[in-house]
Amino acid sequence: MKITAAITGVQGYVPDYVLTNEELSTLVDTSDEWITSRTGIKERRILKGEGQGTSVMAIEAVKGLLAKTQTNPEEVDLLLCATVTPDYVFPSTANLIAAGSGLGHIPSFDLGAACSGFLYALTVGSQFIETGKYRKVIVVGADKMSSIVDYTDRTTCVLFGDGAGAVMLEPSTSGNGIIDSQIYSDGSGVSHLFQKAGGSKYPPTLETIQNREHYARQEGQAVFKFAVVRMAEAAAEIMERNNLTGDDVAWLVPHQANKRIIDATAQRMGIGPEKVMLNIHRYGNTTAATIPLCLWDYESQLNPGDNLVLAAFGGGFTWGSVYLKWGK
Ligand SMILES: CC(C)(COP(=O)(O)OP(=O)(O)OC[C@H]1O[C@@H](n2cnc3c(N)ncnc32)[C@H](O)[C@@H]1OP(=O)(O)O)[C@@H](O)C(=O)NCCC(=O)NCCS
Repeated sequence: MKITAAITGVQGYVPDYVLTNEELSTLVDTSDEWITSRTGIKERRILKGEGQGTSVMAIEAVKGLLAKTQTNPEEVDLLLCATVTPDYVFPSTANLIAAGSGLGHIPSFDLGAACSGFLYALTVGSQFIETGKYRKVIVVGADKMSSIVDYTDRTTCVLFGDGAGAVMLEPSTSGNGIIDSQIYSDGSGVSHLFQKAGGSKYPPTLETIQNREHYARQEGQAVFKFAVVRMAEAAAEIMERNNLTGDDVAWLVPHQANKRIIDATAQRMGIGPEKVMLNIHRYGNTTAATIPLCLWDYESQLNPGDNLVLAAFGGGFTWGSVYLKWGK
C-alpha cells in the first residue's frame, strides 16, 4: 500500500496588533477604498516589540500544533521553515523554532521560495514521509513582512502583514494525504520582486541604507501579470494531471496576495467563490504563512477525503500547486 503524507493538524498564529487601511492612510497617500478595491485587503497584523523575530510567531504556532495533535515533542523527526524574513542570516530560523518548541536535537532547516515557500516546504517534507524515513514532520510557513516593508512606499506597504502557520505531516495508507505536487522557478524574474541589499551581493553599507535597499521592492504590474498566468496555470495543470474537474474540488487554497489574482485562478479552474479559501481581508499577504493560515481558519469546514488544491506564486519567480485529500 502506498504511503502518503497526510496533514494531521494545523495551527496558526497572528500577532495582536491590527494595522487597518485607515491607519495606513495616515502614513502614506492611500485610502481604504483604493486598497480594498485593488487588493481585497482591509487589515493586517503586525508583530511589535524590540527583538521580536519571525521565530516568535512560529514557536507559538508549533507549540499550539503539538498540543492540538497531542504530540510529544520527542516524537517529531524533522522541522522545516519556509520564510524570507529569518531572525538572522544564520543560524536558520528552523533551528530557533525547534529549540524554542522543545523539539530537541532534530534536523531542522529553512527553505526560501518567497510566497511559494510553504508549497515548496510541504513538497520537500512529504518526501521524508513517503520514503518511510520519518513519521512526524512539521512544516512551518512564517514571515514578519513588517521587518522588510518600506512604510513610505504606498505601492508595497499596503499589501503585507505578519503571521505564522504550521502543519503536522504523518504517514497514511488510507488514500488521503498529498497526492501530487509540482513546483517551478524562474530566477530571471528577480528584479521584479526582491530585497536588493543585505545579502552577499550588496552587504549593508551606509549607501544601501540611505537608498532604502533593505526593503522589499516590487514592480506591481509585472508581478500581477505573472501571477495571474502562473498561479492559474499551476492549478489547472495539477487538476488535469489528476483528472479533476471543478466539481471534484472541495476547496481551492490560494496564496493570498491579491483578491483579483485569486478570483482569476478560481475562474480558470471552474470553481465558484464559495469553494475558495479567503482571509486576505484580515491578514493581507503574509508570504509563506498565507496557505497554512487559510487551512487553520477553514479547518472546521474540512471533511476527510475532501479534495484540496493549493496554489501559490512569489518572488524568484516561484510558483506551484499541491493536490491533497484532507485527513489521515
Ligand atoms: C500592487 C497592486 C495592488 C497595484 O495595483 P494596480 O492596479 O496594478 O495599480 P498600478 O500599479 O497600475 O497603479 C495605479 C495607480 O495607483 C497608484 N497607487 C499605487 N499604490 C497605491 C496606493 N496604495 N494607494 C493609492 N494609490 C496607489 C499608482 O501610483 C498609480 O498611480 P498613477 O496612475 O497616477 O501612476 C497590483 O499591481 C498587484 O497586486 N500586483 C501584484 C502584487 C503581488 O501579488 N505581490 C506579491 C507577490 S507574492
